Order: sequence, then structure tokens, then C-alpha cells
Amino acid sequence: MPALPALLLSIHFSSFLLVTMAPRSGSQAALLSSVRMAAILDDQSVCGRGERLALALARENINSVMEGGARARVEVDIFELQRDSQYETTDTMCQILPKGVVSVIGPANSPASGSTVSHICGEKEIPHVKIGPEETPRLPYLRFASVSLYPSNEDMSLAVAAILRSFSYPSASLVCSKAECLLRLEELVRRFLISRETLSIRMLDDSLDPTPLLKEIRDDKVATIIIDANASISYLILKKASELGMTSAFYKYILTTMDFPLLRLDDIVDDQSNIIGFSMFNTTHPFYLEFIRSLNLSWREGCDLIYPGPALSSALMFDAVHVVVGAVRELNRSQEIGVKPLSCTSPQIWQHGTSLMNYLRMVEYDGLTGHVEFNSKGQRTNYTLRILEKHRRGHREIGIWYSNNTLAMNATSLDINVSETLANKTLIVTTILVRSNSLS
Ligand SMILES: *[C@@H]1O[C@H](CO)[C@@H](O)[C@H](O)[C@H]1NC(C)=O
Ligand SMILES: *[C@@H]1O[C@H](CO)[C@@H](O)[C@H](O)[C@H]1NC(C)=O
Ligand SMILES: *[C@@H]1O[C@H](CO)[C@@H](O)[C@H](O)[C@H]1NC(C)=O
Ligand SMILES: *[C@@H]1O[C@H](CO)[C@@H](O)[C@H](O)[C@H]1NC(C)=O
Ligand SMILES: *[C@@H]1O[C@H](CO)[C@@H](O)[C@H](O)[C@H]1NC(C)=O
Ligand SMILES: *[C@@H]1O[C@H](CO)[C@@H](O)[C@H](O)[C@H]1NC(C)=O
Ligand SMILES: *[C@@H]1O[C@H](CO)[C@@H](O)[C@H](O)[C@H]1NC(C)=O
Ligand SMILES: *[C@@H]1O[C@H](CO)[C@@H](O)[C@H](O)[C@H]1NC(C)=O
Ligand SMILES: *[C@@H]1O[C@H](CO)[C@@H](O)[C@H](O)[C@H]1NC(C)=O
Repeated sequence: MPALPALLLSIHFSSFLLVTMAPRSGSQAALLSSVRMAAILDDQSVCGRGERLALALARENINSVMEGGARARVEVDIFELQRDSQYETTDTMCQILPKGVVSVIGPANSPASGSTVSHICGEKEIPHVKIGPEETPRLPYLRFASVSLYPSNEDMSLAVAAILRSFSYPSASLVCSKAECLLRLEELVRRFLISRETLSIRMLDDSLDPTPLLKEIRDDKVATIIIDANASISYLILKKASELGMTSAFYKYILTTMDFPLLRLDDIVDDQSNIIGFSMFNTTHPFYLEFIRSLNLSWREGCDLIYPGPALSSALMFDAVHVVVGAVRELNRSQEIGVKPLSCTSPQIWQHGTSLMNYLRMVEYDGLTGHVEFNSKGQRTNYTLRILEKHRRGHREIGIWYSNNTLAMNATSLDINVSETLANKTLIVTTILVRSNSLS
């Protein structure tokens, strides 16, 4: 084999070392000889999302281009959560604080843990870089806020609404896998109320069997179906829809999962199907090919399943490390920064945290997930979502949504009929909430 496996091995090895290493110095406010940050992982999936490797790649990527040793090395301490729990996360944060980190990244997929991290980081004035969806309901106002690399809930709603607009606002059905769905997509629901078009909303019950919902949608002759669920649940729904003959040309599906590119629907889609979703990846980023090659290689060492492509959370981890380092370097130009070990039991805060947070909000960086820039609320701004449509052997790009809420669609690939856009229909608003125990 060529040299790459050895490189990967050494990365695995060194990230393992980091986990087990004791905090290095007890000195107060030591000047930054290394930029140390913590990443919290919550990946319990069998084959993994590649976040650990993505962090190692980011670190190596940054450390290998240091100019003449003038810059501090980057270290990433990795912590794993076993479950989405406030208690366990508090415990993890109490282990992180004494290490003297400049920032905490993640977790990707644990809402309760994510809020706890934000809260404790807020108390200690350590910037928290989020890589998962916004909390619902929203966190109480935190004086010391965080920044998030994941699209805001409002942006998700606007992007879906923009696609619906390009379909001339058809009646639609929203299928939700979780109750937070309505809070997450509040803006989308509001737009339906304004447009006075019909939106019916259906919740998947605990059995996760979409059959009854899909049959209702079929009986209602609603052709546009929005699915708000993670990639694996979205797959289940589409698989069932295909069995019910609901992936014909009549139906259009819009998926909100940001892991849409990972969905393998070869056994479900045919030339008639319209299954649309989003991707944040910038596939022409200079590191993109090497990124997926490394993740692919590592996946195939440990997993028999076909590598589906990179999970968004791994790319967001990669970008998060770069964003933090970029902000630290900018801050370091204007003041001497030091870190000091903090603890859960003392009221001490990190005195440079507020400055670093200000620099984080000013970062501009072109990452694997596109242009990174934050608005005053710490949300992504000035970025794009690529709109993809599934076909038999993968997907093709059919448009782009700009975060200034401009949609550019490749009209040829969809049967958009401009003459229908001015339709003035009689409209009803219905909201059907199916309680989970009313189905079986
Ligand atoms: C901050 O700047 C000093 C002087 O240029 C440099 O020695 C140090 O490594 C820098 N620290 C970081 C974290 O980049
Ligand atoms: C998707 O959601 C289901 C139920 O909420 C959960 O069991 C599953 O682990 C999730 N899958 C992924 C890939 O996150
Ligand atoms: C992963 O690597 C295998 C073997 O080189 C290749 O056939 C496959 O296309 C790769 N998958 C992705 C998603 O890049
Ligand atoms: C993707 O990356 C390329 C190369 O860095 C860059 O020129 C381009 O602007 C990026 N595209 C987006 C949408 O961020
Ligand atoms: C948006 O990002 C691009 C780079 O992708 C940059 O050139 C432009 O100045 C940014 N626009 C605003 C309004 O910040
Ligand atoms: C439109 O389709 C062409 C050809 O398939 C593709 O090259 C282009 O990137 C697409 N444009 C958009 C905005 O999706
Ligand atoms: C939104 O951004 C795109 C790309 O930067 C630009 O072409 C378009 O004119 C902008 N639209 C508005 C309404 O500002
Ligand atoms: C668009 O709508 C007009 C009038 O309803 C119809 O005559 C035409 O065939 C439609 N075009 C397509 C491509 O569906
Ligand atoms: C819709 O219908 C109403 C009542 O007939 C009419 O006043 C209104 O101008 C119509 N709007 C459009 C956009 O055709």
C-alpha cells in the first residue's frame, strides 16, 4: 500500500494520545504556546461519521503549513458522550475546563448536551462553536452567546419555501419525525398561513411506520411532500412511499436533512421520481477530494458497508477548527493572549473569551461547507445551499439557494410551469396533528 495508511495510522494514534494526556501545566495564564481546543463527539453509529478523523485532518492541515514555527501548534482534545444528557455533559465540561481551552466545538447531534455546553461555556466565557441544528425551543438569552456553523432554522424554512415558490406554491404535506419539527420550521408554516395555501402536518409515531401517513397523503391527492427527519428516517419514509407507488412523476419530495447527499436511493428512484434536498459541501474546495479520500479509506478499514460519502458533521468539525484558529490568530495580533485552567468549582472566567468571541464573529473563511461568515446573532450568513435531485446513480445539482434568500433553479430539470405561477386558487389552511397513540 502507498504511504497514506501510515499517515492515517499516525493521526489516529496521536488523537488517541490527546484523549489520555493529562493537562500540562498548572501555571496561571500561560502564554499560548499551543492553541488548545476541545471537541465533543456524540457519534454512536456503527461505522461512524468520521468526526474524529476530520478533527485530526484539520489539525494536521493547519500545523503542517505553519510559517517557520512562529505560530502556535493546534491541539484538539476529544471527549465522547455516551448519551444526550445534561448530567453527563456537565461532567465532561468539568474535565474540559482545567485543560485551558480557547473554545469548545460540538456536539453535532445531542440537543440537551449542546445546550449544556453553551450554558457552561457562557458562564466561563469560552466561545462555543456549534455544529448541530439550533435548539428548539430557543435557549433563554445567553449574555455570552455562541456561533453556529449549521444553517439556522429560519434559513431552512426559507430555503424550503423558496423551492415551493418555484413550484408555484402547491398544497403540501409536511411529515415530521419529531415534535420539534413545528418549532424548527415555524417560518415555513407561517409562510403557508400567509400564502393561504394548504399545508397538512403529520407526525410519525414511535413505531416509525410511515404507512398510515403516506396513505392519507395519497388519499388527499397531495403531491408535494416535505420530509423533516434525519437521513435514516427519511430513507425509511421514501422506501415505504416507493412500495405504495408514491414515487411516480406525480409526487415531489423535499427533504430537510443536511445529510441528503449520503442518502442512497438507487433502489427507490427511477427516471420519474422527484426527490430534492440540500448540500452544504463545496465540492471544488482544494481539500475536498483529499478529505473524502481519507474518510473513505478509514471507513473501509472498519466497516463492510459501502462508504456513502462524508457526513456533514465531519466537515463542520473540520471547518470549526479552522474558524477557531483563524480567530485566535487575529486576536493574537492585537493582544497577548494566555490561557488558564478553569474549573467547575471556581467562579473564574477566561479573560480573553469576550475578545475571541468578537473575533469569531468577524471570521471569514472558505471551508468544506462553503463560505463561513456569521451575523450578529452568531448564525451563518453569506453562504449557499446546493439543491440536489436524486437519480439512479446518485444526484445532480438542479439549483442554488443563497442565504440572502435568492433561489437560482435550473428550470430545465424540473417541470416548473411559469404560466401557473399567478394561479389564484381557493385556499384552505388545515393543520392535522396526529397524536402518536392514535395510530397503530
Ligand atoms: C502570537 O504571536 C506571537 C508573536 O508573533 C507568536 O510567537 C505566537 O506563537 C502567536 N500565538 C498564536 C496562538 O498564534
Ligand atoms: C435518526 O433518528 C432516529 C429516531 O429519532 C434515531 O433512532 C437514529 O439513530 C437517527 N439516525 C441518525 C443517523 O442520526
Ligand atoms: C470510496 O473508495 C472506493 C474505492 O477506492 C471507491 O470505489 C468509492 O467510489 C469511494 N467512495 C466515495 C464516496 O468516494
Ligand atoms: C468553493 O471553493 C472554491 C475554491 O476554494 C472557491 O473558489 C468557491 O468560491 C467556493 N464556492 C463556494 C460556493 O463557497
Ligand atoms: C460574501 O462572501 C463573498 C465570498 O464568498 C465575499 O466576496 C463577499 O464580500 C461577501 N459578501 C458580504 C456582503 O459579506
Ligand atoms: C444546471 O445544469 C447544468 C447542466 O446539468 C449544470 O452544469 C449547472 O451546474 C446547473 N446549474 C445550477 C445552478 O444548478
Ligand atoms: C443574493 O446573492 C447572490 C449571490 O451573491 C446575488 O447574485 C444576488 O443578486 C443577491 N440577491 C439579493 C436580492 O441581494
Ligand atoms: C404549462 O401550462 C400551460 C397552461 O396551463 C399548458 O398549456 C402547458 O402545456 C404547460 N407546460 C408544461 C411544460 O407543463
Ligand atoms: C385573486 O382573486 C381575487 C378575487 O377574485 C382578486 O381580487 C385578486 O386580484 C386576484 N389576485 C390575483 C393575483 O389574480
